Amino acid sequence: MRSFTIVIFMIINSVGFAGAAVAQQVLDNETLRNADYREGKRAFQGRCSACHTIGDNGMNLTGPSLWGIFDRAAGTKPDFIYSAALQKADFKWTADTLLDYITDPQVFLPGNVMTIPEPVPEGMRTVLIAFVMQESGGADWPKPENAFADEQPDRSKPYSERFPSFWNHMMFNTTRYRMVSGDQELIFKAYFQEDGSITTNTEAEGFWHITEKDFMCYAIHKLKIKPSEFVECFPIAAMAVPRFAEELWKSNPADGVIMYGGIRPGRPEE
Ligand code: HEC
Repeated sequence: MRSFTIVIFMIINSVGFAGAAVAQQVLDNETLRNADYREGKRAFQGRCSACHTIGDNGMNLTGPSLWGIFDRAAGTKPDFIYSAALQKADFKWTADTLLDYITDPQVFLPGNVMTIPEPVPEGMRTVLIAFVMQESGGADWPKPENAFADEQPDRSKPYSERFPSFWNHMMFNTTRYRMVSGDQELIFKAYFQEDGSITTNTEAEGFWHITEKDFMCYAIHKLKIKPSEFVECFPIAAMAVPRFAEELWKSNPADGVIMYGGIRPGRPEE
């Protein structure tokens, strides 16, 4: 039944209703309520979390935090700067508009700047949307009980076992920063070390730690630019999926300063 309705949706979409909210409801609550929460979480972590947090009070990353997204007009989170396409958009986020969007962001809303490496595969869309609804406060059904009963974080274990993907990603690759402050620019490479320190290819150095809420916070100082230090925190989930690019995220660690960060594979030979 599920794939049947998605097929209908694809046909409607391909004959030219893209860009406007599809009037017919494709994903009904019953389907969403029954969707596999864990699969949805996996899909979110693999496909969305590099750019979006989702919980209450989550911060904006490359994309806006998705908390409260359902039934809200598109492009209206006050502290996020959207592309013109999303600012001008005239629809609300519902399961169906989100389905259209993750099926192909550019077809649904030409000119928006969300780039996903590939459309979310068909079999993953329903679980993903149900998970986003649940975690962003948009579902009117309870969270599946014991969804993660066997996945309680065991805080006595080392980070390398609790967050293996994150650990390998950060500890064995190189983080590249480009810091732009007024008309000055500083590019440097940082190496997160297993002992909690950060070394760089310049005089700058720093340290990192993981908070109770599984955010990684770190500070780098002795930078030859103003301000000479900065502190940032990211959800580990956002770093758990290996992604390599010169500039993966952008942040604003101090007034008038823009920081671009990216991960490059490997480390130089010692
Ligand atoms: C590479 C980064 C990136 C990834 C991966 C990504 N997004 Fe986005 N997302 C963005 C950006 C940037 C925007 C704002 C786009 C704009 O302003 O045009 C956005 C916007 C959105 C919006 C609109 C928010 C609003 O307030 O109107 C939704 C909903 C959304 N993303 C959901 C998702 C989902 C679900 C996934 C996983 C399938 C995902 N995104 C993956 C970067 C990303």
